[in-house]
Amino acid sequence: METIEVRICSGTTCFVMGSSFLNELYDLIPQKYGDKVIVKPSLCLGQCSSDDKHSKAPYVKVDGEVISSATIEKVLLAIEKKVGENE
Ligand code: FES
Repeated sequence: METIEVRICSGTTCFVMGSSFLNELYDLIPQKYGDKVIVKPSLCLGQCSSDDKHSKAPYVKVDGEVISSATIEKVLLAIEKKVGENE
């Protein structure tokens, strides 16, 4: 099974838009998925470059799929879907 990579944006826009509440994922993901899923911070994921997209920060990538207005629930749901596809 391939490892799923989760990148949590730690860029300025996402930080200002509240990405710090996603820090809980750094504990939750390893507890829930072990080494099947790795989670790392990322510099700006390049999603906030237009005014239109600012309102959809914070951003997270799950195996390359962009999650906008990311919440813990949305990220866990996206991981669950990827885990299901990889099994
Ligand atoms: S700061 Fe998060 S996508 Fe740019």
